Amino acid sequence: MTALRAVGVRRTFRHAAGPVPVLRGVDLEVAAGELVTLSGPSGSGKSALLAVLAGFDRADSGTVELGGEVLTSPPPWKVCALLPQALGLAGELTLAENVALPIRLGRTGGSLTRVTGLLEELGIAELGDRYPAEVSFGQQQRAALARAVVGSPAVLLADEPTAHLDAQSAPAAVRVLRRAADEGAAVLVATHHDQVHRAADRTVVLAGGRLSVD
Ligand SMILES: Nc1ncnc2c1ncn2[C@@H]1O[C@H](COP(=O)(O)OP(=O)(O)OP(=O)(O)O)[C@@H](O)[C@H]1O
Ligand SMILES: [Mg+2]
Repeated sequence: MTALRAVGVRRTFRHAAGPVPVLRGVDLEVAAGELVTLSGPSGSGKSALLAVLAGFDRADSGTVELGGEVLTSPPPWKVCALLPQALGLAGELTLAENVALPIRLGRTGGSLTRVTGLLEELGIAELGDRYPAEVSFGQQQRAALARAVVGSPAVLLADEPTAHLDAQSAPAAVRVLRRAADEGAAVLVATHHDQVHRAADRTVVLAGGRLSVD
């Protein structure tokens, strides 16, 4: 089943110096159970595309469908979870509270036991009671990944989820992403890391505002 479909997505940003067309007709399908990596040079529009696919930004034209429904506003966590490049953890909540948030908001099907399990798997179990400002960026990134997967969203979008991880902590993050797909999510990951590409079913490349197959 196609869980995520984008057809003819166009997005142009307006600057004082003039319009910057970033997405020039993006077509993409990701099936349930598939892990697809999104590569492309810095500034090519990967984050811009993920924001449109997650419903946080609107395409100027074209459509995005999640589970067959046309997207008009950000959907619930259970339908689509985005791990943004800037992470977006709530500073007033501890790491464990951040990870538990999709469950507390309800209807995600996750359990609080899963929060502990993910923190352990990602090597940050002992940091659960700390606030984001009290841990490193890589540790925050792992918490943000845990928060994105905890409710088993149908569509998982992750923007460079291993960018701040080292050789020791990256493999667990890759495993968590792969498992999300194996458990049935449609997973799209913007990344520059070979490790993530190797775990993927296929890779698409964004260049010149369009996608091509790697
Ligand atoms: N809100 C915005 N307003 C104006 N321009 C923007 C906005 N967001 C992104 N851009 C521009 O759109 C282009 C694509 O940016 P984007 O962040 O999507 O790139 P990226 O592929 O994710 O890069 P990176 O690999 O560095 O994360 C860039 O030229 C950027 O300057
Ligand atoms: Mg980006």
